[in-house]
Amino acid sequence: MPNQINDLIPGRILGSHSYPDGLNFVADRGEGALIFATDGRQFTDYVLGSGPMIVGHAHPAVVEAIRDQAGRGTHLYAMNELALELAGRIVRHVPCAQALKFVGDGAEATFYAMRIARAFTGRTKILKFEGGYHGHHDYGQFGLTPAHGPNGGRRAPDCAGIPAAIADTVLVAPFNDLETTTSLVLEHAEDLAAIIVEPVQRSVLPRSDFLPGLRALCRRTGALLIFDELVTGFRVAFGGAQEIFGVVPDLCALGKVIGGGLPLAAIAGRRDLIDLTVPDRTQDGRSVFLSGTLNGNSLCCAAGLATLKVLEEENGPAKLAETGRRLAAGFQDAAHRLSIPFQMIGPPAFAEPIFGEDEVHDFASHSATNQRASRQFGIEMTRRGNHVLFVAKYYLSTVHSDDQIAATCEAAYGAMRVVRDEGYLD
Ligand SMILES: Cc1ncc(COP(=O)(O)O)c(C=O)c1O
Repeated sequence: MPNQINDLIPGRILGSHSYPDGLNFVADRGEGALIFATDGRQFTDYVLGSGPMIVGHAHPAVVEAIRDQAGRGTHLYAMNELALELAGRIVRHVPCAQALKFVGDGAEATFYAMRIARAFTGRTKILKFEGGYHGHHDYGQFGLTPAHGPNGGRRAPDCAGIPAAIADTVLVAPFNDLETTTSLVLEHAEDLAAIIVEPVQRSVLPRSDFLPGLRALCRRTGALLIFDELVTGFRVAFGGAQEIFGVVPDLCALGKVIGGGLPLAAIAGRRDLIDLTVPDRTQDGRSVFLSGTLNGNSLCCAAGLATLKVLEEENGPAKLAETGRRLAAGFQDAAHRLSIPFQMIGPPAFAEPIFGEDEVHDFASHSATNQRASRQFGIEMTRRGNHVLFVAKYYLSTVHSDDQIAATCEAAYGAMRVVRDEGYLD
C-alpha cells in the first residue's frame, strides 16, 4: 500500500507536511478528538484538519446538518438561506464585518482582500510580514523563510513558478517591528494599497503597540488594513483577534472554522469595500470581479453554520482557552521536571511548544529557537499516539477531554526525555 501511494501521490502528502518513514499513516476516520489510521493506530488529534475541526471530527450536529442538506441539494448556484444565515452570524460577531462575500478557501479570501484593496486605493503594493502565511497564491509566497535576504526591500519569492514582476508588488517587514514597518510604509506610501497581517502570526503574539500602530499607519497613508483571521477567527474569540486586541481592520479574511470542515471562506469588512465586488456597482473602473463555481454553496454553509451554533452553545473560545491552559501547564511541568529550557508561545487555543526560553516576537527569533529539538519532539509525540505537525501550533477542539489532555502531557514528558537524552538540546 505505501508504495502504491508513493507512486500515485508524490511525496505521499496532500499538502506540505510530511512524516519520516515509519510514522506516516493513511487516515481512515475521525471521531471527536481522535483519528484512526487504516493500520489500526489511533491518535489524539492536535492538527484538526489544520484548524477547521474545532468542535471535533464528525460532531453529531455537523453530521446531521450535512446529511440533511445533502438530500436537499448540495449546490444550487443561487443565493440560499444558509448562506444568508451564516453571513448574518459572522457579521454579528466580527467587529469589522459590515458585509461579506463567500469564497472557497483562505488563499482566495486573502487574494480577494488584496485585489479589493488595490481597486479601492488605485495603488499596487501590499506589505506583509516575514513569516506570515496567507495562502498559496503568488503574493503570499514572499518572506515566508529568511533565506532570501534581510528584511524589507525587493525579494525573490520562496516558491518557484512565480513571475519576477510580482516581487515589485510585495514588501516584507519584520513582525512586531513598528519602526522598520513605518519606514518601509512611508517610503512606499504613494503605492501602498494595504498592509496584510496575521494578528497572531503563526503562534507569535503581537506586542501591545503593534496592531494599533499598523492601524494608525494605514490611517495616515490611506492604505487599507487587512487582518488574516483564518486561524484566529472564531477561535481566540467569536470576534477573532480584532475583538481581543481591540483593533478593527478595514477587511478581514476568514475561513477554516466557518466552513466546518468543508471548503468555505470569506472576505468580510467595510460595506463600501465589499460593495466593489457587486458587478457594475461602480462606474469608475473600480469594480472587482469575484466569482467561483462553488462559492457559498448550501452544503458548506450548512456545515459552517452547524459548527458556529455548537461553538455558541458551548462558549467554544473560552472552552478552548481553558483546555489549552491545561495542556500548556502540563508541557511546562514536564519540561521543568526534566530541566529543559522550554516555553509554550501563543494563545492557549493554539499554542506552540518551543525549546528555548528567549522571547519569540518575530520570524527571526522563532527561527533562532531549537527547531531540531522541536522536530524531534513532534516525531516522539507522534510515536506516542498524538497527531501533531512538527514545529507548529497544537490546535485544540471543544471535545478534547481531560483524560486525553493528561495522556498527551504524559507523552510530552516521555518525548522531551528522548529529546534531552539523545542530544537534541546540545
Ligand atoms: C493565516 C492563514 N492564512 C491563509 C491560509 C490559507 O488558507 P487555505 O489553506 O484555506 O487556502 C492559512 C492556512 O493555513 C492560514 O493559516
